[in-house]
Amino acid sequence: MSPRQIVIDTDPGLDDAIAILFALASPALSVAAVTTVAGNIGLERTTRNAGRLLAAAGHDTIPVAAGASQPLVGRGISEEAIHGDDGLGGVPLPGPMSPPVATPAARFLAEMLMSRPAGSIDILALGPLTNVALLLDESPEAAGRIGRIIAMGGAVNERGNVGPRSEFNLACDPEAAARVLESGLDVTLVPLDVTRKVRADRDYLDRLRSSGTLPGAVAADLIAAYFAGARDQESRPLHDPCVMLLAVQPALFDVRRMRLAIDCGNGVDRGALAPSSEVPEIAVAMDVDAKGALELLAQTLT
Ligand code: RIB
Ligand code: CA
Repeated sequence: MSPRQIVIDTDPGLDDAIAILFALASPALSVAAVTTVAGNIGLERTTRNAGRLLAAAGHDTIPVAAGASQPLVGRGISEEAIHGDDGLGGVPLPGPMSPPVATPAARFLAEMLMSRPAGSIDILALGPLTNVALLLDESPEAAGRIGRIIAMGGAVNERGNVGPRSEFNLACDPEAAARVLESGLDVTLVPLDVTRKVRADRDYLDRLRSSGTLPGAVAADLIAAYFAGARDQESRPLHDPCVMLLAVQPALFDVRRMRLAIDCGNGVDRGALAPSSEVPEIAVAMDVDAKGALELLAQTLT
C-alpha cells in the first residue's frame, strides 16, 4: 500500500512532537507539510519547534506554514507549565534548517489541496482547529477536497483538562472547532476518553532510549521532559500520537458515530461537547487497545 499523504496541523508541544516523529518514521504515512497554530505556547515558538523537529528527524525539506496566532474569537490559553518555555521542555534539538514558507497556513493548505487529486490528502490536527476553520471559510472548494480530518480534542464522558468538561484544543477555539465538526466533512475526533488511556511510563521511556535509534532517543527525551512538568510521576498521557496511531492502525480503536455540539458560550463549559440532534454525525474514538497502541508507537519509533 502506498503511504497516505498527510498534513499535520500542530502546536508543538511535547506530545505533538512525539506524534510528528512517529508520522515521519511511519512507512504508512507521507508528511506533505506541517502547518502550525498558536495553541500551547504561541505561534512563533510552535512554528520554530516544527522546524526543529523536522531538522532533528532529517526531514528539513518538508514545508512548514505558520497559521493563526490567535483563535477566531477571544484569546488562547497558554500551556507553558506543561510544555516548558520553549514548548519542547528544553530538549536539545537543532534549530530549523529553513524558515517557514511565506504563505499563511490556511492559504497554503488550499493551494496544496487544489493542486493534488481530490481526497488524496488527510489533515491530522493536533491543536486548536483555527487553521482548519479558516481553510473552510476562505476556500470551501479546496476544503471539499480534503480526504479526512482526524483531530485530537474534546472529552465525551471523561473529565476535561481546562474546565470540568472542556478539553484544551477545543476550548482554545470553540468557534473554530464547531466549524470543523459541523462541516459535514469526514471528521474523526480523538477525545481525552481515549488519549488518557495511552500512557507512557518510565519503563516505556527506557525502552525507547535503549533502542539506540534517533527517533527513539528524541522521543525518550521528550517524554522525560513531559514528566518534568507533571504532578503525575507514574505515567504521562500521549494525547496527540493517538491521532497518527488511528490513521495507521484504526483497528486499535473503537470508533462510534455521534452528533456532538460544542458549547461556544462564555461560561465554565466553554468548549465542552454535548450530544445534539442539530449537527451532522462524526466519528468519535471512544476506546482503544492501549497496549497495542503503545507497541505500534514504540515499534515505529525504534
Ligand atoms: O488536551 C490535549 C491537547 O492539548 C494536546 O494536543 C496537547 O498538545 C495540548 O495541545
Ligand atoms: Ca497539541
